[in-house]
Amino acid sequence: MDVERIRKDFPILRRTVHGHPLAYLDSAASSQKPTVVLDAERDYYEERNANVHRGVYTLSEEATDAYEKARERMARFVGARDPSEIVFVRGTTEALNLVASGLGHTRLKHGGRVVTTVMEHHSNIVPWHMLRERNGVDLRFVDIDAEGRLRLDDYDREITRGTQVVTLSHVSNVLGTVNPVREVADRAHERGAVLVVDAAQSAPHRPVDVEKLGADFLAFSGHKALGPMGIGVLWGRAELLRELPPFMGGGEMIRAVHTDRVEYADPPTRFEAGTPNVGGAVTLSVALDYLERVGWEEMASHEHTLLSRAVRGFTDRFGDRVRVYGPPVGDGHESVLCFSVRGVHPHDVATILDQEGIAIRSGHHCAQPLMERLEVPALCRASVYLYNTQAEIDRLLEGLEKVQTVFAV
Ligand SMILES: Cc1ncc(COP(=O)(O)O)c(C=O)c1O
Repeated sequence: MDVERIRKDFPILRRTVHGHPLAYLDSAASSQKPTVVLDAERDYYEERNANVHRGVYTLSEEATDAYEKARERMARFVGARDPSEIVFVRGTTEALNLVASGLGHTRLKHGGRVVTTVMEHHSNIVPWHMLRERNGVDLRFVDIDAEGRLRLDDYDREITRGTQVVTLSHVSNVLGTVNPVREVADRAHERGAVLVVDAAQSAPHRPVDVEKLGADFLAFSGHKALGPMGIGVLWGRAELLRELPPFMGGGEMIRAVHTDRVEYADPPTRFEAGTPNVGGAVTLSVALDYLERVGWEEMASHEHTLLSRAVRGFTDRFGDRVRVYGPPVGDGHESVLCFSVRGVHPHDVATILDQEGIAIRSGHHCAQPLMERLEVPALCRASVYLYNTQAEIDRLLEGLEKVQTVFAV
């Protein structure tokens, strides 16, 4: 993989921050965009923009065609049986809310058990908490072991006959743990529960095959996978999507509206009320094409090299003054690296690094239950993607030397 050539595709990587070249180590929060993606968005608005599914004129038909082709592209990406299993949403958060809200009117109407995990992003906890408050759902959290892997024995205990939903992230946005989704799916299905997968951190880095994973619903966000903000995908098994009532009401999502009744359209239209983000959907297809051209395996191996270099550097330079979280890199740990610097608050670490042009994340990473479990108020997080270099990892390590000097620890 020619990283220098790839970097030329990302205009933002040319900019400087505080007089230093930008070292962007926060792609897990949102990725940067290559020129082909930026051009695709511009091309859509310059050449084909019109509202979809509404006009009989040429432009509207072309926009509709582009939107439906994007749906087919997403279906191929996740291995869906049919494009109608793809619902375009704003992102993972909206997708998970759509599923939770829908199930709250069906399977979870009178309560029932939902099993999530302690390592989830808030977007895969709060929608279920809302059902706990509204419907009396019994919300259970599977714990992690000392390395930061899910405890499968907890699943054996928590997935009971009354369990309706089991939900987990494919890859943790904090620990980088790659979760054994298939094994959890088998346990969930044995008890008749549906499996909801948050693929926000996996889809940007690896193909997500819903059949292999054993998922019933799967969600990801375009902006973390080189695509624009405001577009994401919910895949749902056709028969389960058909079970769900609409999430929002409005234009497009109906078959007929009268003053005394309404008939809803079939999925996916039922879940796409109002004008969708057509430009975003079209552009996300181009982003996925770009990632596929680079190659998933090449990208994974490159990211592994970067994370391993960081972990080695932490140990060699800082010993136990820097602590890394999650399983050993390469052994079910990918793409994100959370760490703490002894005696220094993560926000201070991130602020000093920013002065060096290095962008990392600090805070609770929208995973407060996990922070509580790890007994930390916050953590630093460096995350890598195809455009990061070994030199940037070395700059991170040098930046941390500065942090040590400033705080004299
Ligand atoms: C694991 C995980 N799930 C869900 C989300 C929410 O994604 P979005 O803000 O794009 O809806 C994120 C974003 O950081 C995430 O990392």
